[in-house]
Amino acid sequence: MKASMDRRSFLKGAGTLALGGLIPLNLIEVAFGKDNPQNFTFGYISDSHLTHIKGTQFVRNWDHGLRRAVAEVNMMDPKPDFVVYGGDIAQLGKKEEIDHGLEMLSAIRNKMHYVMGEHDYYLDLGKYWESQLGPQWYSFDHKGVHFVVLNSILTYPDWTYKRWPSARERMHQMARLDNPQGSPFMVGEAQRAWLQQDLAKVSKDTPIVVLSHSPLYKIYKGWNFWTEDAEQVQALLQPFRKVTVIHGHVHQVLYNQIGNISFYAVMSTAWPWPYANTYTQAKSLVPKLTVPMNRADPFHERDATGWTSFDLANGHVDTHYQLWSNTDRTVAFNMRDGKPEDTVYQPEDQRIPPQTQY
Ligand SMILES: [Fe+2]
Ligand SMILES: [Fe+2]
Repeated sequence: MKASMDRRSFLKGAGTLALGGLIPLNLIEVAFGKDNPQNFTFGYISDSHLTHIKGTQFVRNWDHGLRRAVAEVNMMDPKPDFVVYGGDIAQLGKKEEIDHGLEMLSAIRNKMHYVMGEHDYYLDLGKYWESQLGPQWYSFDHKGVHFVVLNSILTYPDWTYKRWPSARERMHQMARLDNPQGSPFMVGEAQRAWLQQDLAKVSKDTPIVVLSHSPLYKIYKGWNFWTEDAEQVQALLQPFRKVTVIHGHVHQVLYNQIGNISFYAVMSTAWPWPYANTYTQAKSLVPKLTVPMNRADPFHERDATGWTSFDLANGHVDTHYQLWSNTDRTVAFNMRDGKPEDTVYQPEDQRIPPQTQY
């Protein structure tokens, strides 16, 4: 059976789930042999933006998104090897928000790995997050793949330490999307030095998967869909044969190939952002090979939100977007062309036109 058939089987299951509610997902892996120990799957939930109101009150709509993703990830069949949370658990970095998120995520019956988002960080510079979840950057190995988790949302020390009268004000400034007072994200020198050391002990044939919050390339500076030292990070990854970067933050289906590196974004459980190239204020670098999301209704609260699962076979990833209130998508690495391909919408005649922005 060909890989495309497997994907259809998977999508069929996912579609049934979206409609019926409680039918487990089917994730059928036949492409490289079901028993091939190199194949594995992991789930990815991101950008829940849980928002504390007062006391025990939270914005219920965002709570609902995370709860739904947790329930669906728990129904994955076969069970994923682990689950990643891609950052922005909180909206304003509050202890209450992080606690609330971790309480909900504690229902996941899997090993978890966490990535730091700017909404988790800029109130106390990641201190509470770190006290609950451990280091802000680290690496681990799984079935022959080397995973690296980075904190990509740091910025210039002057902006972080000197510019704002209070921690709360700093957090509010970084929480805005189109804020001219913001500051570009970066991985920073210390972490790049650590990354270089970490990768020095990894063979060049080992597949590398980097998990970051912001994209490790430059899409649109005005919205901070951007990592200032992206090229320097990419240079450290350049010697490896199979490199994938998975990121949150952009709240949309987005993928790209730069040199040897494949990039995939995951969706938010809270709200979708439009594509930066639908606005004309500044140059946007939305990759040419990205097929825009067929977002039918920008004002539908759940359109183009959801969660994501990844199959890792032969060291490259297939990305399954489980979109709520929209058609599921699969973006898979095409071995022949050497880049990610949207297997559902790539052919022109199969595309549903994206919305026209207001
Ligand atoms: Fe976010
Ligand atoms: Fe973010």
